[in-house]
Amino acid sequence: MSSAHNVTYKVSPGGQLRGAIRVPGDKSISHRSIMLGALAEGTTEISGFLEGEDSLCTLQAFRDMGVRIDRPGPQRVVVRGVGMSGLRAPAKALDLGNSGTSMRLMAGLLSGQSFDVEMTGDASLSRRPMRRVTEPLAKMGARIETTAQGTPPLKIIGGSHLKGIGYDMPVASAQVKSALLLAGLYAEGMTCVTEPAPTRDHTERMLQGFGYQVERRGSTVCLRGGGRLRATAIDVPADISSAAFFLVGASIATGSELELSHVGINPTRTGVINILRLMGADIRLRNERTVGGEPVADLVVRSAPLRGIEIPEDQVPLAIDEFPVLFIAAACAEGTTVLRGAEELRVKESDRIQSMADGLHVLGVDAQPTADGMIIRGGPIGDGRVDSKGDHRIAMAFAMAALRAGGEIEITDCANVKTSFPGFVELVNGCGLDLRTN
Ligand code: S3P
Repeated sequence: MSSAHNVTYKVSPGGQLRGAIRVPGDKSISHRSIMLGALAEGTTEISGFLEGEDSLCTLQAFRDMGVRIDRPGPQRVVVRGVGMSGLRAPAKALDLGNSGTSMRLMAGLLSGQSFDVEMTGDASLSRRPMRRVTEPLAKMGARIETTAQGTPPLKIIGGSHLKGIGYDMPVASAQVKSALLLAGLYAEGMTCVTEPAPTRDHTERMLQGFGYQVERRGSTVCLRGGGRLRATAIDVPADISSAAFFLVGASIATGSELELSHVGINPTRTGVINILRLMGADIRLRNERTVGGEPVADLVVRSAPLRGIEIPEDQVPLAIDEFPVLFIAAACAEGTTVLRGAEELRVKESDRIQSMADGLHVLGVDAQPTADGMIIRGGPIGDGRVDSKGDHRIAMAFAMAALRAGGEIEITDCANVKTSFPGFVELVNGCGLDLRTN
């Protein structure tokens, strides 16, 4: 969305991270709060909403479909639900910017509407695979057109009669699972999705919070179409995927001690904590509590010597967005870290295996990309100019690498950091990094 306006980071080497901070709200939960709030009966009040470009794209899309959505204060959103069949045809295509989550989840949700709708995105989103959602949705009776390559724009033909299906997902994807469940709300009978490995379950939890019955049996989750959603209040926890940069930064920078408050610790998201602890990180959880159906805690992280590990493959879906910064942790660890079973990283906002390998090579790190992961030997980090490829998480990961670098790290194409982490520059500068932009 914002790649036209380019931003470069220059980060001075060294330093430590100290203090107490709260990172912005969870992106996955923010998207879902708008979607379910819009379809509910009554008014949904959201606090802690992520004011990042991705979730704001979802917000604008629902405004474009006639939903009144107010923003009474920072991180606060009030959605006046229109009910399951109250959305209206938008006047133009819905622009979802950089946000794959918006497009994939809405592909399901919009398959059940009576009107036609088109969804577009920026250059990165326009390269991302959509057949993983359009094919199973077609089995339910949806009519969705993609490009010949199976990429956006998506054109959804309204008025389809959807039927529930049982679907065995070939990839462990919460976006695919959620797209089918959201279509399932509009389908006749039961929609069941079986996942090959646990993926984030925010959709299921939030549906239940809106009074919709969802059943889980082992690795299968089911719902029956034709029900209604009742508006509720939502307190969005801080995003563990944004906290991850600080968990790594404070771990690798000697003398660091940082508290991260109100972080979502849903067990389908805590792979980053599990992996860092296996590497020797000192991360403690305080004040564990449940907020609106989601587990939350304050995290305290102190610097600690890290060692290389073989990352257990069952942790991959639970840390899928955190590998860019986990590769920085691996570069600072003693010994070798091996990641396998993570080919999904190749189809994120950028090819994250290649983007990270390229940047690590510039910094003199021994990083060997493989088809489905990376082998990294820990050692000194040098200086130089790395390209984030317009990928927010690549940019933020290399910013943290500066804490252990021998000289300045310059990172290009960083405008998209605001898709998920508005205020990143101010927050990192406030707790010990020296990061300038131009
Ligand atoms: C998300 C699911 C994950 C994740 C993405 C957000 C979600 O994608 O990478 O950032 O909110 O459901 P996949 O479903 O492709 O694994």
